[in-house]
Amino acid sequence: MSARTLLVLVSCALSVITGLVIARGGTGLTAARQRPLIGLSMDTLKEERWQEDRDLFTAKVKAAGADVMVQCANSDDAAQLQNVESLITQKVDALVIIPHNGVAMAKAVNLAHQAGIPVLSYDRLITGCDLDLYLTFDNVKVGELQAKFLTDRMPQNGRLRLIRIYGAKTDNNARLFKQGQDNILQPLIAAGKVEVVFEDWAEDWKPESAKKITNAAITKNGPNFDAILASNDGTAGGAIQALTEEGLAGKILVTGQDADLAACQRIAQGTQAMTVYKPIQSISTVLVELALKLAQRKPIVAKDSTSNGHTDVPSVLINIIPVTKENLRDTVVKDGFHKEAEVFQPTQP
Ligand code: BGC
Repeated sequence: MSARTLLVLVSCALSVITGLVIARGGTGLTAARQRPLIGLSMDTLKEERWQEDRDLFTAKVKAAGADVMVQCANSDDAAQLQNVESLITQKVDALVIIPHNGVAMAKAVNLAHQAGIPVLSYDRLITGCDLDLYLTFDNVKVGELQAKFLTDRMPQNGRLRLIRIYGAKTDNNARLFKQGQDNILQPLIAAGKVEVVFEDWAEDWKPESAKKITNAAITKNGPNFDAILASNDGTAGGAIQALTEEGLAGKILVTGQDADLAACQRIAQGTQAMTVYKPIQSISTVLVELALKLAQRKPIVAKDSTSNGHTDVPSVLINIIPVTKENLRDTVVKDGFHKEAEVFQPTQP
């Protein structure tokens, strides 16, 4: 049998692409085991959201009567490959990978397939391989919402001066966020209404890197800018630290994403202007459902597909919600993602 364990049929109907992932060969479960075993290989637990992702996934897999093994690579490609190899050795029935480096992890997918294990790429795409399934938020839309928030708040002189902080170059999502931002900004840049005064990529999404970028921008331009288009809450936090040191916090609009508690507190206090809430609760339910179907070799219907440079990967995209001071209560608090008292009355350090 071919190394590929799944057959992917992609058919076009009107503008909707339907991907059907069909199980091939056996039940997928190792003979000696009654309960499915899912392997979860994570890049990092640095951002709060990943801890939430891990905890919800683990709890929901167990509640569904299956088991899970989790490994974290701390932003190291070699470590992540080793983690996947070890999960393969443990004979997991399906693998969920959140890649540090979407290009480098193609090797992990190939190894899993050689062992007959299907792979779901979660949140970030693994490129250049025969990936089985991709579950993510609408990442281009994240970037569009961030940029739109700023362009909807043009200064009175009709010219918006921006510092842009992108995410990790190794993360395919960072490029998608930029693509979404560009969709909104390019026409306005061409019309002379938006000026990018400084831009750079934050290494491994580090807040320290974002702080350095902001410091460098201020050294170069002084305080002559209106907004910082930070691609996530971690980098927003680093940028806001630099702004605070310069007495600019609260005067400059700063974007983000993830609805981290610290970011929601900054929004309540007025030092960060917006974030994008990605409903981790709902996506974790979908993730468990898909991972279990893969493990049990059951058919999966995916409405979308995403080219990863090698194949059109059947994809499931989950919607996201922009969050500002006005709707903090109606979104993250209402959803139980954060408690109202934590968001609005943070303990002062
Ligand atoms: C995720 C973001 C996260 C960032 C840093 C991205 O791929 O989509 O939610 O903030 O990585 O971990």
